[in-house]
Amino acid sequence: MLSAELKLQIEEATTRLKNGEVVGFPTETVYGLAARIDSEAGIKRIFSTKERPFFDPLIVHVASIEQAKSCTSEWNEMAELLATNFWPGPLTLVLPKSKNISDLITSGLPTVGLRWPAHPVAQELIKAVGVPLAAPSANKFGRTSPTKAQHVREEFGQAVQVIDAGASEIGIESTVISIKFLNDQYQLALLRKGAVLQTKMNEVLFKTRLRFQWVEAIDKKESPGHMQHHYMPSMPFIVCRNPHLKLSELSTILNTRLAELPDLIDGVKIIKPTQAIKKIEFLKLSNDPAQAAREVYSQLRAASLRKPEALCFIQMPQHKGEMWESIFDRLYKAASLIVD
Ligand code: TXA
Ligand code: MG
Repeated sequence: MLSAELKLQIEEATTRLKNGEVVGFPTETVYGLAARIDSEAGIKRIFSTKERPFFDPLIVHVASIEQAKSCTSEWNEMAELLATNFWPGPLTLVLPKSKNISDLITSGLPTVGLRWPAHPVAQELIKAVGVPLAAPSANKFGRTSPTKAQHVREEFGQAVQVIDAGASEIGIESTVISIKFLNDQYQLALLRKGAVLQTKMNEVLFKTRLRFQWVEAIDKKESPGHMQHHYMPSMPFIVCRNPHLKLSELSTILNTRLAELPDLIDGVKIIKPTQAIKKIEFLKLSNDPAQAAREVYSQLRAASLRKPEALCFIQMPQHKGEMWESIFDRLYKAASLIVD
């Protein structure tokens, strides 16, 4: 049961969405910035509020499999299998889009990303609106994703309503996979790693008679939004993949290599130190990958606010396994420098 306060917030959000506004809302992965899929003004406002380029498609959020079916022209057995096993949850399925999904949402692609989020507030909001919601993560383009309502307020200010339901439980964005049927079998491509792990999907897949293979998404156009840099904090963030490096050696490397960095990386401004770095702050994450995922973005944001000269994460041998791969996918993109 949701509290009366949350119900009121959902009611206000529903009205705003009807008026073509955008609204911040919680999901179990990260906070999203929503607009109704049938509101062109709302969808356009997502891009302008985020300062997001139109080539990066939005994920459509639904609250039932029936609703998902209305967004795709090809709900197949593979989609049904994965949806029944992993929805509601942090998995986005990319399928051919139906007519009610505009080109604005998909950036002109013939496919749409669909997800039924597990968060009860997200589900209540979608149900109250009665129409699926297009929603990217609620951060300025290229910046760190929000896992708390406060993060969304810091991004967009008071003009955007945010439904506050505390911290997101998973902490990193959904796993994105594309599903195609070609030459008598399903071709699955992992477009973004997340908390639904490939081995877990395989466990389900191997129990069925469905023929499938995992393929690389070769065509860049098919996996847009996968730029090299993303989630970036405002100060230099360094991932050091060599745990044996001494602090003095690391400082020397940073002082030469940071000076060579451009001021803008993929459109995101990085405040470079003007003098030699004296003190490096270290990002500390739990050794438990579920907890590390939950805290990684808020730690990056908290560090950004403290404005250290540089922030560094040391990759350790124990950071192994699929969930750590999902986390490192974010850390490498957030890094202005990777040191080996
Ligand atoms: O967990 C999540 O997925 C969060 C919450 C709010 O649901 N949303 C999210 O949205 O991470 P966003 O916009 O930050 O990331 C969406 C990404 C795109 O950048 C793109 O990589 C992929 O999903 N995507 C969406 N539609 C696609 C499509 N038709 N084909 C290929 N990739 C697509
Ligand atoms: Mg995002």
